Amino acid sequence: MLRTLRYMTAGESHGPMLVGILEGMPAGLALADEDLSARLRRRQGGYGRGQRMQIETDAARIVGGTWKGKTTGAPLAMLIENRSSKQWRTRMRRTVPRPGHADLAGMLKYGFDDANPVIERASARETAMRTALGAAACHLLERLGVRLTAHVVAIGGIEAPRLPSDWGPAEIEAARDASEVACCDPVTSAAMTARIDEARAQRQSLGGRTELIVWNLPPGLGSYVHWDRRLDARLAAMLLSIPSAKAIELGDAISGSAELGAQAQDVIARKGRGIFRPTNRAGGLEGGVTNGQPLVVRVTHKPIPTQRRPLPTVDLDDGQPVEGRYVRSDVAIVPAAAVIAEALAGMVLVDAALEKFGSDRFAELERAWQRYLEQLPQWDESRS
Ligand SMILES: Cc1cc2nc3c(=O)[nH]c(=O)nc-3n(C[C@H](O)[C@H](O)[C@H](O)COP(=O)(O)O)c2cc1C
Repeated sequence: MLRTLRYMTAGESHGPMLVGILEGMPAGLALADEDLSARLRRRQGGYGRGQRMQIETDAARIVGGTWKGKTTGAPLAMLIENRSSKQWRTRMRRTVPRPGHADLAGMLKYGFDDANPVIERASARETAMRTALGAAACHLLERLGVRLTAHVVAIGGIEAPRLPSDWGPAEIEAARDASEVACCDPVTSAAMTARIDEARAQRQSLGGRTELIVWNLPPGLGSYVHWDRRLDARLAAMLLSIPSAKAIELGDAISGSAELGAQAQDVIARKGRGIFRPTNRAGGLEGGVTNGQPLVVRVTHKPIPTQRRPLPTVDLDDGQPVEGRYVRSDVAIVPAAAVIAEALAGMVLVDAALEKFGSDRFAELERAWQRYLEQLPQWDESRS
């Protein structure tokens, strides 16, 4: 999944803190706690989140791997403290696994007679740390002129219309940030919040879909030469690690699968001194390699499993069928999932950039990136 960059996280949902390490970032990149905070704030927001997000105010502290505000090339170490961590170790034993969660599989796998250790680690609380680590990667990409923008395209079966074709990252981010559900279309956004209210009243939860667009990537990240170097596979594996993510779509893969072959490709044309594609059905990837078009990846999320309406399950103490217990929960997490997708894709893209352009010093990486862009084919404009 990652080849040059590595990361690890540890910590439980209600433990004292989450810890994370990001290893392989180049030296000399200016990086401060504040560079991580915008994405952490966005991950906590969104209409349909539960009480937990009102308790936590996530702030990641960089505690290793920087010197005088710049990365040193050493592993970046980060901490996020949990506020709601009181009495977490003395919590009552839970013997009733919740359907849709890792509870049953985790208890069977590790031989627990208590679901708490599974609940605590399988919780999506862990994605706060991955968002912080990924925000550092996105920060590096932003310094290279790359923008990662994810927004919500569906919640509970309500689908947003396609974005206007002339919109760039600034328009999308402005429209998204004005919406309580990170959806760029105001009418759809209102319908989505109404759908969330309705689901909450019905004691149900909702799923949905996010779309990530990455601008200004050079052609040539990833490779077709070996399966584990394909960027499409690396992105898909990373994005499917988001809890509740169940399907990935690259470009217009789903609608394209019903079309005739000639309509489903992006023809190659000349514009000015360079190459131009009138369409981007492939979503910026051909043969597992970026092709210079915006990268477009959609992630589909199942309705989250915990809801106020208890689901049938079995008490593992006595084997009796029972109703699951309600544990404080969100209704819809799709807006938060969009931010997590940006952060995780950021790490995959930095990994691919380090592989292609070198990984010791940020200044070297920047120069190599620039030189590569300059030597891409350019032709006489009069002959286009
Ligand atoms: C940001 C975020 C918050 C989540 N919050 C909840 C929640 O409050 N309640 C819940 O049941 N599931 C929640 N989930 C989903 C579960 O963590 C996930 O469905 C569960 O761990 C089982 O994993 P799976 O759905 O990937 O198989 C959340 C997911 C994300 C990405």
